Amino acid sequence: MCDAKKKSVKEFYGNLKTEDFSESLNETLQACNRPKNALPKKVREALKNVHDEVQNRYFGCGLCIPPALEGATVLDLGCGAGRDAFAISQLVCESGKVIGVDMTQELLKIGESFKEWHRQKAGQKVSNVEFKHGFIEKLDELGFSDNSVDVMISNCVICLTAVKEDVFREVARVLKPGGEIYFSDCYGNKPVSKEAQESDKLWGEGAGAMVWSELGQICEKLGLSVPYMQNASPYKFGDNVQELLGDRKFAAVTWRIIKKPQNCEKNNNGSWLATYNGGMEEICTFQLAQNIKFPKSKPILINSEIFAELQSSRYAKFFSFEKIEEIMPQQLNPFEFT
Ligand SMILES: C[S@@+](CC[C@H](N)C(=O)[O-])C[C@H]1O[C@@H](n2cnc3c(N)ncnc32)[C@H](O)[C@@H]1O
Repeated sequence: MCDAKKKSVKEFYGNLKTEDFSESLNETLQACNRPKNALPKKVREALKNVHDEVQNRYFGCGLCIPPALEGATVLDLGCGAGRDAFAISQLVCESGKVIGVDMTQELLKIGESFKEWHRQKAGQKVSNVEFKHGFIEKLDELGFSDNSVDVMISNCVICLTAVKEDVFREVARVLKPGGEIYFSDCYGNKPVSKEAQESDKLWGEGAGAMVWSELGQICEKLGLSVPYMQNASPYKFGDNVQELLGDRKFAAVTWRIIKKPQNCEKNNNGSWLATYNGGMEEICTFQLAQNIKFPKSKPILINSEIFAELQSSRYAKFFSFEKIEEIMPQQLNPFEFT
């Protein structure tokens, strides 16, 4: 069953162009890709500098380009023809690199054939993009060692895989502590019927999506942070397949998940004030999650779990932290006050 699904996903995407999507799916994807907040100029420019032929094979369902990427090693899980990989290659600069992994040779070949074009466009001496053919559940077979990658991204891929936990196990292994996966994917509000799961076409469009709450359970099991939601848009399948899905609702969601540092549980007490000092591109308010935001220069109260995650991440250098003594009910010794 898994191999049959992989084969049908490869066939589905191998010869597809964006214009081949049905009207309703195309509308959905356009809506998902419309950023809710203004994009930093650098990101807008980087996306504009991607070749049309690559852009034409972009099948993502969200914007998964986090800030502060300079110098980072970024792994794109299911990179396709490389739209995000080529955009990010400009943001990591020459001191960083991007590795795209995908199982569909046809798409990788397109990416490979435009590598030189993007190197020249970015004025780089040597290309900092590499494509690898393989499965995102088996990064070990591609030579990725433990704790070796700063950032992972993934755009509309994990919903196509058979066993989601296998993907996140590799994420948890390969990310450095404090590293993050920043990714967009499709989620359901309840499981799809067996009949819908067996439709290759539906699966290829994303019906293998997890129920959203399962993601948090997997993260907890694997020592990853809570999935911090960035944004969500309604996701509608092609008209011809919507029927099979009944009353189930779907959303394209962008999440940030941080690999917790090793001592995170041990030091799990107390509260902290975290102040974002600015300096991250043009970002005036750093958004850890939709509901956890850090406006520049404003101390925000956080618990020790978020503190450990932020402090071990590449965002730490943009923050200052102050420990807050917990106020416990206790009888005070009056002689300490006289
Ligand atoms: C919807 S497309 C998105 C491609 C790319 N991220 C983009 O935004 O254009 C899904 C991609 O995931 C790849 N894919 C699906 N399952 C995979 C797996 N288990 N291992 C590697 N690649 C996979 C497919 O080959 C396809 O290129």
